[in-house]
Amino acid sequence: MATRVVVTGAAGFIGSHLCEDLLARGHDVVGIDAFTDYYDPRIKRENVARAAASPGFRLVEGSLTSLDLTAALDGAATVVHLAAQPGVRASWGSTFEPYIENNVRATQRLCEAMKTIGGMRLVYAGSSSVYGQTAELPMREAHRTRPLSPYGVTKLAGEALALLYAQNYGMPAASLRFFTVYGPRQRPDMAFHRFIRAGLNGDPIEVYGSGTQTRDFTFVADAVAATVAAVAYAGGDSVFNIGGGSRVSLNHVLDLLGRVMNRRLDVRFVEPQKGDVTHTFADVSLAQRELGYAPTTSLEDGLAREVEWVDSLYRRFGRGVG
Ligand code: NAD
Ligand code: UGA
Repeated sequence: MATRVVVTGAAGFIGSHLCEDLLARGHDVVGIDAFTDYYDPRIKRENVARAAASPGFRLVEGSLTSLDLTAALDGAATVVHLAAQPGVRASWGSTFEPYIENNVRATQRLCEAMKTIGGMRLVYAGSSSVYGQTAELPMREAHRTRPLSPYGVTKLAGEALALLYAQNYGMPAASLRFFTVYGPRQRPDMAFHRFIRAGLNGDPIEVYGSGTQTRDFTFVADAVAATVAAVAYAGGDSVFNIGGGSRVSLNHVLDLLGRVMNRRLDVRFVEPQKGDVTHTFADVSLAQRELGYAPTTSLEDGLAREVEWVDSLYRRFGRGVG
């Protein structure tokens, strides 16, 4: 059934794809975004342009920490809360402040507004980073959560807030723990984007550590399909792993990327980064059973799509963007 859906973080990587998908399904979409400068807001403006051209879309520009949320959420059945300060490795030291502000305080304020209005459902963008460094693989939703990065702590806090408002105020909530999402519009701080950009420019690619770390890389359309299923989900409060079914090492990714780009990549191994877990690997059986989730995009196809997009991005904006 088509309803009004509010998408926070609508101009971001995942959010902009989600808005387009929801609009194509006939939903009315209200997108909220603060266009933070963690990466170039020009990229975010471009991300959201296609959704913004649709008559079913309305953009509310501003921060969840200060906006009049009662007005922004008016008439919505569901809020998909993707707005956040992302980035695992940047969350140390003095740059922790925006993580608290945008991941914890913003989520609390959003939950308060939803509580006041009543009758809405929340889909929260969780993260594989909540599990931390663990030998228990694949990761299951019932496993212990012990983040390894300050970012992971704030994502876990946001998830806990979503679930505690659900319990206390009967406001149904689902948290989707996304595992390293990639594809067109991927953030410029993320590994694939950096690797492709360096490869296109003939610059060295810096791998943190030995490249033997693994990730359960998830193509963005698969993450979006899971989110759309969560919007329609009628079950109770829940947490779902959303992985891509392509758990591979960075070294494997770089081999594949060299073949996809048809060039020799100049790979250099540098110091591992604090906060980076060695392995992620999602057990997605719960999402499969409850949401009908089944990732469909292979790593090779997904990488090719991202190469095409990164190439066109820098052709249009020049090397200065990022
Ligand atoms: P992104 O940075 O591209 O998108 C986030 C958007 O939120 C940005 O456009 C930003 O301007 C906006 N925003 C930030 N703070 C805001 C605030 N206070 N009010 C309004 N808007 C605000 O990031 P993304 O990669 O698309 O990630 C989306 C969500 O998914 C985040 O919650 C992130 O933690 C989560 N996640 C992402 C990944 C991944 O691999 N990309 C994996 C796990 C979880
Ligand atoms: C990603 C997102 O950035 C987080 O927002 C998200 O919450 C997290 O996934 C998640 O799954 O929850 P990360 O796995 O660090 O975090 O994603 P990438 O930036 O794509 O990094 C993947 C791997 O490549 C990491 O081991 C990282 O250390 C490595 N890397 C990254 C490099 O070796 N070189 C780089 O230049 C960048």
